[in-house]
Amino acid sequence: MARITYDDQTAAAFKTVREVPRDGLGHWREAIRRHLSPLPGMTVADIGAGTGAFAAALSDWFGLSILAVEPSAAMRAQIPRRPGIQVLEGDASALPLADGSADGAWLSLVIHHIPDLEAAAREIRRVLRPGAPVLIRQGFPGRTNRVELVHWFPETARTVDTYPSVEQTCQAFAAAGFRRGALEQIPETYRTTLAEFLAQADTFRRADTTMRNLTEEEFLRGKERLRRAAQDAEETPSPEPRTNWLDLLVLR
Ligand SMILES: C[S@@+](CC[C@H](N)C(=O)[O-])C[C@H]1O[C@@H](n2cnc3c(N)ncnc32)[C@H](O)[C@@H]1O
Repeated sequence: MARITYDDQTAAAFKTVREVPRDGLGHWREAIRRHLSPLPGMTVADIGAGTGAFAAALSDWFGLSILAVEPSAAMRAQIPRRPGIQVLEGDASALPLADGSADGAWLSLVIHHIPDLEAAAREIRRVLRPGAPVLIRQGFPGRTNRVELVHWFPETARTVDTYPSVEQTCQAFAAAGFRRGALEQIPETYRTTLAEFLAQADTFRRADTTMRNLTEEEFLRGKERLRRAAQDAEETPSPEPRTNWLDLLVLR
């Protein structure tokens, strides 16, 4: 069971406010290039592909063939249907993929939803070719100091603290034969201003596990912080773009 239900309403909210615009993903593109060494035609399993933002980006950037595995029908319905992306029903512990069929696995903001991470790691080991990397994009406990949401809504860190840590994730994957590789913090930027982010806060709350767990008071306090910062930003001639940092953990 995922921590939240990805129904039609959540999937639509996710698509509207949580997909990082492509032009804000330049650093992710370079980091993935370094760790995956992609070649056109290589196959990558996007596990917990959600609305398919990364499936589409990986396909466009590198000419990869993407196997987008996603358990929620509502999220799957949002994945772009086009050559280079195969959309499949399944979850991390039961991948609908043949043994040794993928040259890499991509898991973005998924591992905290997986009930048995060791079972998932074994399943990922089964479908990957030897030496193929697992790339995990994640906010890990104790490493959220540059996560934008945590800045405005500090109590969101309370939920992140219940997610698998870097060490627990590495242990689960080690049991399946993976060794820990790189761990880097990668920035991503948003086009929308703080005022626009504030206007989206209620929709964002519907689509984000950490925001859903805030009390009403915590949420309102965060919105007030945002409102004040948005006002200051309006008086700044050219404010910095909004930036969020997440971890990239690589195992192989
Ligand atoms: C926060 S969304 C991330 C979506 C996408 N990877 C992204 O970064 O835009 C988490 C996704 O994981 C999916 N999910 C939940 N439980 C899962 C599981 N056991 N195995 C694989 N995916 C799962 C959810 O349905 C949801 O689409």
